[in-house]
Amino acid sequence: MPLFDVYPLYNITPVSGKDMYVYDETGVEYLDLYGGHAVISIGHSHPNYVKAVSNQVSKLGFYSNAIKNPLQVALADKLEALSGCKGCELFLCNSGAEANENALKLASFKTGNSRVIAFNNSFHGRTSAAVAATDSKSIVAPINAQHKVTFLALNDVEGVKNELEKGDVCAVIVEFIQGVGGLDQGTKAFFEQVDTLCKANNTFFIADEVQSGYGRSGKFFAFQHYNVTPDVISIAKGMGNGFPIGGILIHPSIEAKYGMLGTTFGGNHLACAAGLAVLNTIEEENLMDNVNNISEYFISIAKTIPQIKIIKGRGLMLGLEFDFEVGELRKKLIYEYHIFTGAASNKKLIRILPPLTITENHVDEFFEALKKALINIENKELEVQG
Ligand SMILES: Cc1ncc(COP(=O)(O)O)c(C=O)c1O
Repeated sequence: MPLFDVYPLYNITPVSGKDMYVYDETGVEYLDLYGGHAVISIGHSHPNYVKAVSNQVSKLGFYSNAIKNPLQVALADKLEALSGCKGCELFLCNSGAEANENALKLASFKTGNSRVIAFNNSFHGRTSAAVAATDSKSIVAPINAQHKVTFLALNDVEGVKNELEKGDVCAVIVEFIQGVGGLDQGTKAFFEQVDTLCKANNTFFIADEVQSGYGRSGKFFAFQHYNVTPDVISIAKGMGNGFPIGGILIHPSIEAKYGMLGTTFGGNHLACAAGLAVLNTIEEENLMDNVNNISEYFISIAKTIPQIKIIKGRGLMLGLEFDFEVGELRKKLIYEYHIFTGAASNKKLIRILPPLTITENHVDEFFEALKKALINIENKELEVQG
């Protein structure tokens, strides 16, 4: 049976991975500055992770959410301690889209409203309400488009105020650092005013931390760079280092009711073992300090490269913007220099989302290759002109 052809594929087949590198079937080593869409947080096949997942699967991989699962409690406690989100409650699911779907559903249940405010260039996932709140027409099917979503520009405080005052909005959903859209961020004043406006208008403020969470921004959550208190925080990518797991952190003022949210697979034993190994490793290896140190080092070198026009993002969620489309440059980096980077909807931007274990040597390796690739592309252009 052929696979449903929804992904344009690079002709590379990784079969193993170790920390910052993956290896294809012929043994070629690739430096991973993309972490499989910001998923690999503690490095490929981290020994803590391998041990925790292997031990757990040999005992009990799964049972339903109708029984007690102490691993969920341990994960929630560790997450509360590391994130500093004191008193929040955790609902576990399986992916980022599902996390946002549940966040929006909760907002609608609690406020009795159904309209959502989202922002231009946002990406919140591919399920029904999540994709409706995603600013990408081609991935929204008519069935998704039935949701009521109003898109506004980042930093349009007046727009948010006008919409919230109409009284029919259940949630404002925001990425504090846009991922797929291309690393743009709202201002501090914007985020803080939106937080205040949501509180004044019985509207949930949802922080989509699916990509920016788990230390990637240099704080546990990207919203923690501001003075805001989201009602719901969605998490996924870095949470399981590749094991599918997502969740929402729910403010203690929101009361749970049986049946309100639910899932078969969410929070299963294996997912929790993976999630705990990730949090323990982030703590033991001081990975958030590493994010800040390496981010500074990376940016300091990026600033010396004249072809890089703008450096966007924070921590290890960075975008390098050029004044030309980067498709060919990224292909060169992959096929000639064996370095994975990411694309964005902004075609002039390379996304950098490495495992949080990255060192200065890896950064040097990247910039050496980037400089050579840029010279190569410029020479080719001269040949074409000549
Ligand atoms: C900010 C953000 N939210 C939600 C999602 C959707 O996550 P998933 O692909 O796990 O459903 C993504 C995925 O790229 C994302 O970047």
